[in-house]
Amino acid sequence: MAQDAPSSLATLQTKILTTSNGDPVDDNQNSLTAGEFGPILLQDFHLIDKLTHFVRERIPERVVHARGAGAYGHFEVTADISDLTCAKFLQPGTKTPVFTRFSTVGGDRGTSDSLRDVRGFAVKYYTEDGNYDMVGINTPVFWIRDPIKFPDLNHSQKRHPRTNLRDHDTFWDFLSLTPESLHQVTVFFSNRGTPYSYRHMHGFATHTFRLVNAQGVSHYVNKTNQGIKNHTAEDAIKLDGTNPDSNTEDLYEAIDKGDFPSWSVCIQVMTEEEASNYRWNIFDDTKVWPFADYPLKKIGTLTLNRNPDNYFAEVEQSAFSPSFMVPGIDVSNDRVLQGRLFAYPDTQRYRLGPNFQQLPVNQSYRAKVSHHQRDGPGTYSDNFGAHPNYEPQSLDPNGPQQQLHDIRAKFVQTSLMGKTGRYPYRDSDDDYVQPRALYNLLKGKEQDDLIKNIVDHIKHVKNPEIIKRQIAVFSRADPEWGRRVEEGVKASGKKL
Ligand code: HEM
Repeated sequence: MAQDAPSSLATLQTKILTTSNGDPVDDNQNSLTAGEFGPILLQDFHLIDKLTHFVRERIPERVVHARGAGAYGHFEVTADISDLTCAKFLQPGTKTPVFTRFSTVGGDRGTSDSLRDVRGFAVKYYTEDGNYDMVGINTPVFWIRDPIKFPDLNHSQKRHPRTNLRDHDTFWDFLSLTPESLHQVTVFFSNRGTPYSYRHMHGFATHTFRLVNAQGVSHYVNKTNQGIKNHTAEDAIKLDGTNPDSNTEDLYEAIDKGDFPSWSVCIQVMTEEEASNYRWNIFDDTKVWPFADYPLKKIGTLTLNRNPDNYFAEVEQSAFSPSFMVPGIDVSNDRVLQGRLFAYPDTQRYRLGPNFQQLPVNQSYRAKVSHHQRDGPGTYSDNFGAHPNYEPQSLDPNGPQQQLHDIRAKFVQTSLMGKTGRYPYRDSDDDYVQPRALYNLLKGKEQDDLIKNIVDHIKHVKNPEIIKRQIAVFSRADPEWGRRVEEGVKASGKKL
């Protein structure tokens, strides 16, 4: 049985109030002054200790996914996929402790849980081979298929540089000029864009990964066992005013009263040969692999059963990255995944400092971690004591050594061909085929809600050329879709 994940570092050690260096405090209400009515003395270390620490309490918020809630739990494997992967934590019957953080994407740290957005679903598996992170979202696809567009995507959806307002013109300007986003636009404006709670949504890894053993490639999905439940657009907006913390509260209270949420963890698997002949480019994260072609295979259950003791230490300081991998799972040529492998630890070195992996919530505490990295701000560990801090070395027979026969080095070899270049993805009608299928899959009220949600948003765009361009994108997927949005926008009084 796996030991529990660590919570925050230190709890109170004494009932006596002390300064940060442990000196007992005699008076916590009155500053030290020169005489009864005189100025405060610089020698009042307790006052200065208190104020200087307080003014340094904030760290940079995550540049995206700033607002979130987290919980601990475990993942238990219920199927035998040992033919597909040698990952230890995916072997039959294995139970692995996890930490999960849910989030919204575009809003600042203080914004509302309920408003229309994609939701983050990040899971840190504390495995014996090191931490494995699945950093997913509640939609199966992404807005773009090249990481070079990510800063532009986010600049267009976050605050305007002049007004500091979220801006409808920039939002639709970028999307209407980036038709590969249409699939994600469809999911975003469907009712799944306003989930009832974090417990009532699925989570998708979205990218293609390689399972190491049988040369399979796979997609991951966490299917909620609570059932999908969404707010109406009106309820989501109402909650913004009445309870902006609705999803954070729902998760905390459910776990607090023992109503532990769970998800069925599933994969879709294809062989490399199938992958090379599939009609969709399997490295394009704006596409799904339809379940009819590749059905979901349940491999285990993820359960959340413990709230963190301290929000800042455990949730705010948690750091997930798609580059935190373990033997048995490897990356693919998905360009967005490739960009993410670099971006996450990079932002975390800035947000939390270069030693962020030593923080309790981030520690690979079930693996034996040994390397030659030393020093730097926030060295929380013993810094590997007296062991040599370089390799090759001959002084310490127990010093860490490279593993030339690691299974990844042995099996994960990718054939490459062609010349370096900035290649666009195949130029075709591809961007419209899957959104069209999704639009037609939505029936009756669900499709009406999609149109209404789009119209209620796009009608705020000031520049009619942007609206017309986006209507043309909808029309190219399905003329009726474009027509309905156009009629809705005109009915709102907007001139096109
Ligand atoms: C958070 C970058 C695409 C899911 C973040 C953060 C950055 C980032 C810088 C903040 C991390 C931190 O401060 O700890 C990028 C880039 C992307 C990309 C450059 C594409 C080029 C995606 C995709 C997904 C995703 C495709 C999901 C499939 C998440 C989640 C978080 C996050 C869930 C929050 C993790 C947490 O709870 O701490 N992303 N991202 N991102 N991203 Fe991405």
